[in-house]
Amino acid sequence: MSQTSPFDRPKTESADLVVEGGRSPHPAAARSVTVPGDKSVSHRALLAALLPGAPSRLTVRNANLGGAVRALLPALRALGYRITADPDSLVVERGGPVVPQERRPHPDITHWPDDVPYLETGGSSAAARLLIGVLAGLGLPAVVDGDEVLRHRPMSWLIEPLAQLGADIVHLGEPGLLPVLVRGPVHRPGTVELTVGSAQARSGVLLAAVAAGLPATLRHPVRSRDHTERMLAAFGADLTEAAGEVRYGGGPVTVPPVIDVPADPSLAAFPAAAQLLAGDGELTVPDVCLNPTRLGFFDVLRRAGADIRYRDRRTGSSGEPVGTIVVRGGTGGVKEVRVDDPATLHALIDEVPLLAVVAATLPGRSWIGCAEELRFKETDRLATTAGMATAFGARIETADDGLLVTGGAPLTAGRVPSYEDHRIAMAAATLATSLPGRTTVCGGACHRTSFPDFAAVQRAVGATITEVIQR
Ligand code: S3P
Repeated sequence: MSQTSPFDRPKTESADLVVEGGRSPHPAAARSVTVPGDKSVSHRALLAALLPGAPSRLTVRNANLGGAVRALLPALRALGYRITADPDSLVVERGGPVVPQERRPHPDITHWPDDVPYLETGGSSAAARLLIGVLAGLGLPAVVDGDEVLRHRPMSWLIEPLAQLGADIVHLGEPGLLPVLVRGPVHRPGTVELTVGSAQARSGVLLAAVAAGLPATLRHPVRSRDHTERMLAAFGADLTEAAGEVRYGGGPVTVPPVIDVPADPSLAAFPAAAQLLAGDGELTVPDVCLNPTRLGFFDVLRRAGADIRYRDRRTGSSGEPVGTIVVRGGTGGVKEVRVDDPATLHALIDEVPLLAVVAATLPGRSWIGCAEELRFKETDRLATTAGMATAFGARIETADDGLLVTGGAPLTAGRVPSYEDHRIAMAAATLATSLPGRTTVCGGACHRTSFPDFAAVQRAVGATITEVIQR
């Protein structure tokens, strides 16, 4: 499977982030910060508006409003849904005007199917994969496409199992890649084997089955984030889970008129890491999704000796556990970290760059393994994490399926790349906060993909971060 080399990507387009690090943070009093809504739950909640059984007006409260979630909105408008946004929620209504999207030119495609909607989801793989699943369930013909980066990311993980359930989906350009034309629905009940741990692939197939009311069993190699399962169960879907599989028995779901999105644990990880690296004081992050399939970053560091606790646990809407994360600053006594099973890796899949830079500050040799799917993210994240961390002086080696970080090398501020990858940019800026001197994270403003308020939230934990447009 091809993946754009992180080092051949188009020239940086986002502004830089400039971090003045190593200043004594605010006095070590207890602090509290809030982070935006969860990106994965937001995508699923918005797409719930398309399911049979959805109300004509669905309000998604506390939705993540970063670029990745916004990327889904033009596609929904092109399907005739009206979307209104306020600072706190997104409202999706059936029966709005159809607002067609402009087709992105493709070198191999001169004749696009022009009798079906063209739906482009920018750079968001979750938006594209989950949307394809819902369309294949509803039997709604459409072309699904993405930006130049997304056009290089694997879609066969999803399209092949959908085809086994009878969906008719064709690749219009290169095999296995976007754009695809969804022509016909899933209609053959059965069992499919998913070959990758990707939650997007499993969720796309499950959404297709539920949208079609088609009984299906999905066998999966690892139980990655389970927001789709929890949400569908909360909607009354006939779902049962056993080791290595999830089974949908057919039958309807009822989508409530309001879905609340808990705060994103992958975003909470940044102020938490800044607090750990700051050395003292206590930070609380309230109302965070405490779904165990998302807490790998915190759990791995806890096991290594970090003082991180979960408090005020309760069940939020969509079946998600919610609570407060409490972090006491300081890594004294924290040992090297080790990730060597797929479930743990998937529980921190988006935090690998951040865990790697934290590991670079710890003694010993840390290993983050079972991470081969990281090569197919917005960038090849094993390569880009290593490239970014090396620019600080970290000792980090890539393996086919992971990263080996040898702690204790002197780390210094300077000019570091983001590769226009939001997770790399934010990991770099978080490490830079703890290092004396000025760090420029080139193109670091791409953090807007998932965490528009990143700089403001990190400032609240003592960081000095500014965005610089002129370079
Ligand atoms: C996501 C799943 C993960 C994660 C991504 C969001 C989701 O991707 O990296 O940020 O919403 O299901 P994969 O499913 O490709 O592992």
